[in-house]
Amino acid sequence: MYPLGTIVRGSTVSDSLLSATLWPGISEMRVKTLPKFFSLSSVLAAVIASATAVLSPTIAAEPESDDQANRAGIIPVGKPVKIKAPLGLPPIPIPLDNPPTEETIALGRRLYYDPGLSADGTVSCATCHAPDLSFRDGKALSNGVDGQLGSRRAPTVVNAAYNTLQFWDGRASSLEKQAEGPLTNPVEMGNTLEGVVNYVRSDPKYRALFARAWGRKEITIDLVTRSIASFERTVVIGNSPFDRFYYRGDKKALSPAGQRGLKLFLNQKKGNCSVCHVIGRRYALFTDNKFHNIGVGADTWGTFEDVGRYVQTKSASDMGAFKTPTLRNIAKTAPYMHDGSLATLKDVVDHYVGGGTSNPHLDKEIHALAFLTFNERADLKAFLESLTGTLPPNVGPPEDLPAAKMQTARSSNSVSDHSASAQSRRRQLR
Ligand code: HEC
Ligand code: HEC
Repeated sequence: MYPLGTIVRGSTVSDSLLSATLWPGISEMRVKTLPKFFSLSSVLAAVIASATAVLSPTIAAEPESDDQANRAGIIPVGKPVKIKAPLGLPPIPIPLDNPPTEETIALGRRLYYDPGLSADGTVSCATCHAPDLSFRDGKALSNGVDGQLGSRRAPTVVNAAYNTLQFWDGRASSLEKQAEGPLTNPVEMGNTLEGVVNYVRSDPKYRALFARAWGRKEITIDLVTRSIASFERTVVIGNSPFDRFYYRGDKKALSPAGQRGLKLFLNQKKGNCSVCHVIGRRYALFTDNKFHNIGVGADTWGTFEDVGRYVQTKSASDMGAFKTPTLRNIAKTAPYMHDGSLATLKDVVDHYVGGGTSNPHLDKEIHALAFLTFNERADLKAFLESLTGTLPPNVGPPEDLPAAKMQTARSSNSVSDHSASAQSRRRQLR
């Protein structure tokens, strides 16, 4: 494991320190000093330079192709770029050893959309996390190679940069580590890590792009996943009607129903939603980055088809617990929950009104909200609908990825509509 630092704090913080409990609090506390800190690109450069200085002896000692060596010491050769966080989001956490550069982001974007990374050349990351579907696939369960069905609903990649742990059960500690999962998952992209590397190495265009981004001839899986992760860190959405209302004080940005819904969402005696879907003073991630059993996918004896976080911790309190998902763009990412079992936002509100399936591991914050009037339930839904923002530019499929390649990907039709639909969304929101 390499140290996962965040430039947010200007120092290296280990995975364990970046725990679910500490993260929201710390970032909220520190946010005041951040913009100033971030504007000093010289500080950024110094931080990276010092990381290199500390780590470079390791590089010299290790053979070029060794992945461990990559983890320890290889950093991109280009100038680190600042990824702009939109209104309502904190600065994007960046691991010290993977500062994003224009070149690594562009390379990661190409890899993300390239079905050639899958075993049979038909599935890319975008097949299940497509830009025109808010980086989801609109399905309850996703199809991978040979149309095989996975067992969980694909979460959005939007704002995954802020997750302290990845996957519904938190089994990956970073975006870099997460990316290895789908590449080798037999029902997702079905490849081997060697297969991925061989594919990339065999393409002269990739060889040139890797050399430009990483300054070395040798391509390793580590550089593949780190490039993809840098691209994913650019996929951030904020600046929704809610953000403009709450963080910019634009009273007209949020409808009266949305404003009432926000109050219910925050009120511990009413919706009690923000206890898990956190709204901070300066920004809102809508997640506490923790795991809860909210009575989805359970029977009343507490038997779960999917035990969730329990697999990782073997702690009874994690039985049937799943990561609190972000609620940004939630109106666009149906169906809902880790198993895709709820079709609409109304179903979700009804789920909470009913208090979820009662089971021995139900989170203590979950209880029936039958006292909410029908108008209040509609207000909560209106609030959820106000969380839609716009994607930044340059997160759709890259123009230089050969169209023939894209056409083999099953989602290519919908994906290629991306810029048009994103533009019309932007227009609608203005
Ligand atoms: C066949 C569909 C499929 C493909 C292809 C796929 N994913 Fe996923 N992705 C999923 C599913 C399903 C999950 C949730 C799995 C779980 O939690 O166990 C997931 C989880 C994630 C997460 C975690 C998000 C969170 O909130 O925890 C990220 C990030 C992600 N995928 C990125 C990628 C990248 C990058 C690729 C390409 C290298 C990719 N995915 C390919 C279906 C897919
Ligand atoms: C105890 C913590 C907790 C509370 C309180 C809570 N949630 Fe959730 N919420 C979660 C978790 C965890 C999930 C994912 C559960 C799963 O998939 O099994 C979730 C899922 C959701 C989803 C679906 C997200 C998706 O991508 O599928 C929505 C929408 C949602 N919650 C809205 C609300 C609203 C509205 C309230 C208040 C009425 C609320 N939540 C209260 C923890 C909580």
